[in-house]
Amino acid sequence: MNVAVINGASSGIGRELCLLLQDRIPAIQEFWFFSRNKSALDELSHLFFRKVKIFPYDLTKKESLSQYKETLRKENPKILFLVNAAGFGKLGEACSLSSEAQLNMIDLNIKALTAFTLYSLPYMRRKSRIIQFASAAAFLPQREFSVYAATKAYVYSFSLSLREELKQKEIGVTTVCPGPVDTAFFSVAGNESKLKAIKSFFMANPKKVAKTALVDSVLDRPLSIYGFPMKVFYVLSQIIPDEFLLLLLRKLYR
Ligand SMILES: NC(=O)c1ccc[n+]([C@@H]2O[C@H](COP(=O)([O-])OP(=O)(O)OC[C@H]3O[C@@H](n4cnc5c(N)ncnc54)[C@H](OP(=O)(O)O)[C@@H]3O)[C@@H](O)[C@H]2O)c1
Repeated sequence: MNVAVINGASSGIGRELCLLLQDRIPAIQEFWFFSRNKSALDELSHLFFRKVKIFPYDLTKKESLSQYKETLRKENPKILFLVNAAGFGKLGEACSLSSEAQLNMIDLNIKALTAFTLYSLPYMRRKSRIIQFASAAAFLPQREFSVYAATKAYVYSFSLSLREELKQKEIGVTTVCPGPVDTAFFSVAGNESKLKAIKSFFMANPKKVAKTALVDSVLDRPLSIYGFPMKVFYVLSQIIPDEFLLLLLRKLYR
């Protein structure tokens, strides 16, 4: 059975990717959707005319990751696409945010993404694709987004090196690095008004970000960076030392 596994399927960019995969990739026979929100996954599954399995799991929990591993063992699927979109950020200084929330960020953005990737790999074949959600926050350490930006720097580094390791097997890994995208992400991040005011100028549409990510994945590109401003930010982050860029951004946002 050719399967697409998508976590973060209940909303935002992950949900858009689910719909695009159904429209554009006829070889997928079954979809596996993961998120905590069962009713959102049920609602999504009603839009599908192919087989869907839903897994209403909290992926910060160790048992959820073990259950995924066990499901793979029992079902022995052929995974054509793995989309690791589940993730969240919390805005605020590291010393004032709850430590629990920040450790949860690491559990989801790093540990669950790594577990899904490692557990899925034995079930992937030549031409299978992995789409990893990092962020433009991976390009530069970010004040008031310290842990979030660090988790995304991990995703960026892990995914680009894994891509090199998987070249011979012809399994493609694409790291998606969006700037601000108009999803529930900002209400989860907190301090919505501040974030939106700062970033609304760059705010992207989740459908467009998802479409660009899928095209980049099918074409086996290493990075998917949506929009001109974020491409410029990426190039600057590659040539200007972090401390100067941080200083520049601090002045810009004041
Ligand atoms: N929006 C942006 O500006 C932006 C920019 C750069 C990168 N990104 C990254 O893009 C990815 C998708 O974000 P989005 O913008 O689409 O945000 P979103 O709409 O808030 O979606 C986040 C997804 O993660 C799932 N999730 C959150 N906590 C979970 C948990 N404990 N267990 C299982 N699933 C969980 C959510 O499902 P439930 O709540 O139903 O569990 C939801 O499906 C994330 O990795 C995010 O870091 C977003």
